[in-house]
Amino acid sequence: MSNTAPTIELRGVCTRFGALEVHKGINFSLQPGEVTTLLGPSGAGKTIILKLIMGLMSPSNGRVFVMGRDITDLDEQALRAVRADIGMLFQGAALFDSLSVFDNVAYGLRERGERDEKKIAEIVHERLEMVGLPNLDWKLPSQLSGGQRKRVGLARALASSPKIMLYDEPTTGLDPTSTRKIDDLILKFARERGITSLVVTHDVFSARRVSDRWMLLSKGVIAADGPVSVVERESPLVSEFVSGTWKDDA
Ligand SMILES: Nc1ncnc2c1ncn2[C@@H]1O[C@H](COP(=O)(O)OP(=O)(O)O)[C@@H](O)[C@H]1O
Ligand SMILES: [Mg+2]
Repeated sequence: MSNTAPTIELRGVCTRFGALEVHKGINFSLQPGEVTTLLGPSGAGKTIILKLIMGLMSPSNGRVFVMGRDITDLDEQALRAVRADIGMLFQGAALFDSLSVFDNVAYGLRERGERDEKKIAEIVHERLEMVGLPNLDWKLPSQLSGGQRKRVGLARALASSPKIMLYDEPTTGLDPTSTRKIDDLILKFARERGITSLVVTHDVFSARRVSDRWMLLSKGVIAADGPVSVVERESPLVSEFVSGTWKDDA
């Protein structure tokens, strides 16, 4: 492969809100097609990392690169172009309650100026097929199960054919069967479409299933980073996190 540039890179990223220093120098890079899990306790700053990559927030220090481009100081218009390559599954799926399944999935396409309804319908149906939810077009989110809502959120995030997918706690609150379906979809998108994926989760079983690489965010830095088998063996923090003996205020 000629292009070995990382798809996502954070260099020396610091984020602060007043006196609260959330990130104190975050460094990592994600290679094309890689699926990485970001673990860490609540409030560690995981969601903010996803927002930094989307350009929804700027770091107080450091640089953020997406597909080789420094996005740190881009204006809103340039950021919109960057976001076109990124799909994000927000915590709680964040569907529009008053819109049908079809219109939820079509939303991003219409937002980006697509007016050809035939083409929109084609893409929407293909994506709903991909997540295993055909024939639900005119249902409202309130008529779906939690797992189905997540999958509609996935279909929506995939509508614009992103090269990067960011997942914020995609399986939180789901039963084991729905969790497994989401995990399988995350893997499928990465394997079949080469989508570079960053998954934030508390679910250690999902984290093992979907990714080879774990990063642990703790006290403002990436405290462990590497193949799962290695970090589970060598990082005391990771073993504490996995075994539920984590002491956050140590
Ligand atoms: N816009 C904001 N203003 C002030 N504090 C914030 C803001 N967004 C997040 N925080 C704080 O930053 C910390 C990290 O947040 P977040 O990334 O959401 O954590 P998590 O790892 O649970 O996803 C939390 O303490 C949160 O309260
Ligand atoms: Mg969060």
